[in-house]
Amino acid sequence: MSTAFEPDFLQGSRPHTTVILAMSADGKIADRDRHAARFSSAADLHHLETLIAQTDGVLFGANTLRAYGTCLTVRQPELLDGRSQRHQPPQPIQIVCSGSGKLDPQGRFFRQAVPRWLITTVSGAKPWQGAVAFDQILVLPDDSPTDWPTLAQQLRTRGIAKLALLGGGTLVAAWLEAGLVDELYLTICPLLIGGATAPTPVDGTGSPISAALPLTLVGAKTLGSEVFLHYRYSRDPGD
Ligand SMILES: NC(=O)c1ccc[n+]([C@@H]2O[C@H](COP(=O)([O-])OP(=O)(O)OC[C@H]3O[C@@H](n4cnc5c(N)ncnc54)[C@H](OP(=O)(O)O)[C@@H]3O)[C@@H](O)[C@H]2O)c1
Repeated sequence: MSTAFEPDFLQGSRPHTTVILAMSADGKIADRDRHAARFSSAADLHHLETLIAQTDGVLFGANTLRAYGTCLTVRQPELLDGRSQRHQPPQPIQIVCSGSGKLDPQGRFFRQAVPRWLITTVSGAKPWQGAVAFDQILVLPDDSPTDWPTLAQQLRTRGIAKLALLGGGTLVAAWLEAGLVDELYLTICPLLIGGATAPTPVDGTGSPISAALPLTLVGAKTLGSEVFLHYRYSRDPGD
């Protein structure tokens, strides 16, 4: 992955993308069984909702949906007011990425009052053709299912200027490798989960330190025993 982590920062040609995750103090975003990661505080959920409320779309991997069963909606009146004042619809578009298309159409997610898009492959799209479950289906070719830059451009063309990427580690790694991530919010929660196979913020194949993504810390605060970190990608040395 020598050229990995080389963001292109094509201004305006792709969404400004912010990864938002909660992590245990030992660097896990879920337990070894990949259950839903409901270990952060009410303050962290408010923080997440506040960040999501700024966006046009929220992107997450199929395993994340399988773990949680639902998406986080914007509910706080002041956040809904803010969206209205910015001429945004009440809810950001919830965008699921599933190559297989194997999602439970009876799941609670499909009864939530949110706009839903699906990113999938030609074969993954077949079961959803003609269904009302998704408002839009973006199809990646079966022989090129990792063309994230083109996909990101498609999202931008369809009006997604600000995107939150909520995980899991597989999808975050793919977007980082494609150079499509601008910022990272990481909440460090006061617990130890352990497990060599438990997911981390960035899974995938990883990189040598020489090719690691450099970050600049732009904000840090502590609330109770949680630490809220905000990083951005450092484009230039010393940035
Ligand atoms: N702590 C936190 O803040 C947080 C946040 C989110 C998630 N999580 C945890 O993270 C875990 C899930 O993470 P994960 O890494 O296992 O999975 P994930 O990133 O949520 O989803 C991976 C799935 O995305 C789809 N995908 C990946 N690459 C694709 C491509 N090129 N084209 C189309 N689809 C593609 C595939 O879906 P198909 O299998 O359908 O092909 C793949 O299985 C859960 O345990 C969840 O609780 C924690």
